[in-house]
Amino acid sequence: MNKELTSKEVAQFHEQGFVSIPQITTALEVAWIRESYDRLFEQCAGWEKGDLFDFAGTDEPGAALKAPQLSDPSKYEPALKNTLFRANAFAIAKQLLGPAAELVFEHAMLKPAKSGAPTPWHQDEAFYAKGVDNQAITFWMPLQPVDTTNGCLDFIPGSNKKPLLPHRRINGDPRIHGLEALGVDDSLSISCPLQAGGATIHGYHTLHHAGPNLSDEPRRAYALLFGLRSPYYRVKEDFPWNRGMATARHKRAVKADGLVRRYTNNLRSAAKAILR
Ligand code: NI
Repeated sequence: MNKELTSKEVAQFHEQGFVSIPQITTALEVAWIRESYDRLFEQCAGWEKGDLFDFAGTDEPGAALKAPQLSDPSKYEPALKNTLFRANAFAIAKQLLGPAAELVFEHAMLKPAKSGAPTPWHQDEAFYAKGVDNQAITFWMPLQPVDTTNGCLDFIPGSNKKPLLPHRRINGDPRIHGLEALGVDDSLSISCPLQAGGATIHGYHTLHHAGPNLSDEPRRAYALLFGLRSPYYRVKEDFPWNRGMATARHKRAVKADGLVRRYTNNLRSAAKAILR
């Protein structure tokens, strides 16, 4: 199954900043990715290096996991590099960005049943260093059906053509990785429910959001980002909201100590409870 966008879908992406496609890979592959995904979260792969962290919580010992996220899952399960999802997303990325498009990032996201926090409105560009312009586009694929009850993505059409909004860390808490945009008018937002193995594609400047997970199942999603790396990396500076960042994952990435190992064991039990 090879997937390319129709000219209408390409036009919608450029005009509105996002497009939703019903299927980007097979049900068989979704089932395999889901198994790998649950195994990685149960093992807490990448915790010591800061690749596994809490996107929406304080990510510190004793704190409840609000939205666990694993960066670069294929580092821990190399077979994820050979998926049809990745091949199809790569082909579509070249269609949208040109032949120089390349994979710039991937991550797996988990919203626990009943307790997943909403992902606030944000523009992915706000996470970058100021002056870095990867022009990245995100392929977001759920591993089970999603709608507004379990955290499908919502977008604001046309926000890709408006300026970058000011952001801050969620609730203004420097310990939290996630960002929230300030001054968002979401009256025209569009929700994108999907079947497992469908995907939404959005640009790095497009305002998006996901509600909490109110269902009885964890909401699993896998995202691949393709982009054009900018030649202007030398103009590197942080946005003001990224300067005071003091997240636990950064401390872990620097040093793994006994406390972290103890926390990892606690976290493994918590992950098993979430995925039960
Ligand atoms: Ni985002």
